[in-house]
Amino acid sequence: MAQDPRQEYHRPVLVDEVVGLIAPTMPGLVVDATFGGGGHTRRLLEEFGDRVRVVAIDRDPDALARAADLGIDAVQGNFADLEEMVSSVTDEAPTAVLFDFGVSSHQVDTAERGFSYRHDGPLDMRMGPDAPYTAAEIVNEWPEAELARIIRRYGEEPQAGRIASAIVTNRPFETTGQLSTVIAAAVPPRRAGHPARRTFQALRIAVNGEIEAVEAGLEQAISMVRPGGRIVAISYHSLEDRVVKQRFARGATGCVCPPGLPVCACGRAAELRVLTRKPVKPSPAEVAGNRRARSAVLRAAEKVAA
Ligand SMILES: C[S@@+](CC[C@H](N)C(=O)[O-])C[C@H]1O[C@@H](n2cnc3c(N)ncnc32)[C@H](O)[C@@H]1O
Repeated sequence: MAQDPRQEYHRPVLVDEVVGLIAPTMPGLVVDATFGGGGHTRRLLEEFGDRVRVVAIDRDPDALARAADLGIDAVQGNFADLEEMVSSVTDEAPTAVLFDFGVSSHQVDTAERGFSYRHDGPLDMRMGPDAPYTAAEIVNEWPEAELARIIRRYGEEPQAGRIASAIVTNRPFETTGQLSTVIAAAVPPRRAGHPARRTFQALRIAVNGEIEAVEAGLEQAISMVRPGGRIVAISYHSLEDRVVKQRFARGATGCVCPPGLPVCACGRAAELRVLTRKPVKPSPAEVAGNRRARSAVLRAAEKVAA
């Protein structure tokens, strides 16, 4: 079943906070590395008018097609290749790079994409054509130990061993419905949440190489932005948030010489200033209007002038 056309494509989260963090970098070039439904980009264009130029990136051709209406540069691909993609359209150094990780509501709600345990569809889960394999290939072909490892690591699922064993016993699988039924039968009843939620998250992260992409994308964003430029990243689960938090903290670490040395011997200088001492979370009012916002965590950092 295709998505209901009356449903909105994606409601952006923490929009005011994103605009507020990017405002001091204007005028300039903003790279929206996860264009999705374009909600953040639209708001930046409304707010800053001709003071902002936006380059939109998304792995998903369906999402990126929507950038055409806005008359902005749009590049399809994985933000793991951020530098190459941005330099294919401009020589200008960005003043800000925005990441809003994960999947859009439209992707999750489109049954044919196979992201959801709520809608029956093929076990696909690729965000875009660059993903090397589908969820069906992982579920039907990977050894049990490897399945258990990704479900534990990427899903933080305490029942990973049991679930991997049930998958191997019951495969092959073709649909999300078959898989979620087998998972539900394999694990003890839970107090909260769907029993397949963590396994589906794990498969999606593995299919799309999400953690590796976050690491590579952040690294390139830090190297590309102008001094004084900002990186704003919104995460939806602890694994990606940990990558952002640790990378920003490492970048903000200056001289590590033991105290008392008369001059610095390590030569290390901070490249970043963390702008969000505590991660920014959506207000209760935003969460009440948009359930997807409930797990969002925003962190931002500024590149220190050389
Ligand atoms: C949460 S949505 C972004 C929503 C968007 N900020 C908005 O306001 O509508 C995430 C989008 O990022 C894309 N995406 C996720 N990982 C990506 C990657 N490594 N490279 C490029 N795009 C990616 C997904 O295809 C999806 O469209």
